[in-house]
Amino acid sequence: MKVLKWLGTGILILVIGFVVFVYARANPKFDAPYPEIMASLDSSIIARGEYLMYGPAHCVDCHAPVSEFPRVRMGEKVPLSGGFDFVIPPGIVHAPNITPDRETGIGAYSDGEIARALRYGVKRDGSPLVDFMPFYDLSDRDLTAIVSYLRSAPPVKNKRPANEWNFLGKAVHAFGMIKPMGDGVIPETPERDSTAAYGKYLAESVANCRGCHTGRDMMTGAYVGIEYAGNQPFEVMDEKGTIVKGKHLVTPNLTPDKETGRIALWPKEVFIARMRAGAAIPGTPMPWGPYKTMTDGDLIAIYKYLHSLEPVHQPTPVGIQEGDPM
Ligand code: HEC
Ligand code: HEC
Repeated sequence: MKVLKWLGTGILILVIGFVVFVYARANPKFDAPYPEIMASLDSSIIARGEYLMYGPAHCVDCHAPVSEFPRVRMGEKVPLSGGFDFVIPPGIVHAPNITPDRETGIGAYSDGEIARALRYGVKRDGSPLVDFMPFYDLSDRDLTAIVSYLRSAPPVKNKRPANEWNFLGKAVHAFGMIKPMGDGVIPETPERDSTAAYGKYLAESVANCRGCHTGRDMMTGAYVGIEYAGNQPFEVMDEKGTIVKGKHLVTPNLTPDKETGRIALWPKEVFIARMRAGAAIPGTPMPWGPYKTMTDGDLIAIYKYLHSLEPVHQPTPVGIQEGDPM
């Protein structure tokens, strides 16, 4: 009996210690350098930023109000006044208002603070951003264009709630599992052109085709599948952006395998037409609306890059599948 009592006290002390640790460390702060990025007033640079944000980089897909989603789906330019509420196991993450309103948006941020958030995933106050935005390798030129557009867009007042972390959320922060991501090493960016090399930059650092069309570890986000061979399950969303239970979609294989590669037999023109046609499956997470607005040159570059990959034989199911994605 005595032993049990001691054991019980020991466990209780451990549990209390764990809880105290988690609460004490639930708000870790990080440091990262401020990239030397300055907003420009040059209208062609601002226009480039607007193209990226409403096109290949699809910022609008997450940062536009959920009520405007039908317009986003059509490829329209909706103000980025705050968007999806992502319900994930550690809590609820609210995509913020990124218009330059000083109180409710990012109007009070410096150019360097905005650039640092995108390049390293560190917020203005040093807390880490959840890894929703894989733009860590954007070129200086494109990051400058995006910061320039963010500065010049009309401010919209829309107060967004702070993120809500449950105990698991506090614990993953305390144990450093939500942390800054970018290493600050920016690969040399090829000239903007319709070449496979530029297509690789778009598919990896701007449009995130690789991020969804590759198998990922569901807990850590690490790449575990062969790049672009697809087969990554995703949730299906309803009109309001709520996850539909018991259903999932799987990303197709984008490598040029003749039997199982979804686009392997498509001529360039068919690929461009498909990318412009928008979503065919309601509830798909692919940002079809923004991609509609991509230039022919950018789409051709991506097509050439995907067709330059090693073919991988991997069948992937088409259409909505039964069961949750996990
Ligand atoms: C897949 C959805 C998604 C996409 C695409 C996306 N964002 Fe975000 N963004 C978020 C979420 C969610 C947060 C809040 C994350 C958090 O609080 O940890 C956020 C936060 C931000 C912040 C706020 C940083 C801060 O310090 O508060 C900025 C600035 C930002 N995004 C800009 C952009 C830009 C610019 C793009 C396009 C180049 C973009 N986002 C694309 C989901 C997205
Ligand atoms: C947020 C995740 C996500 C991103 C980013 C994404 N996709 Fe997809 N993609 C999907 C999913 C899920 C499907 C299957 C459902 C569908 O067809 O909409 C899909 C389907 C496709 C299809 C098949 C369409 C058809 O009708 O058979 C093609 C082609 C495609 N994606 C190409 C791309 C390219 C090129 C990019 C980058 C420019 C990209 N995807 C980025 C998730 C994504």
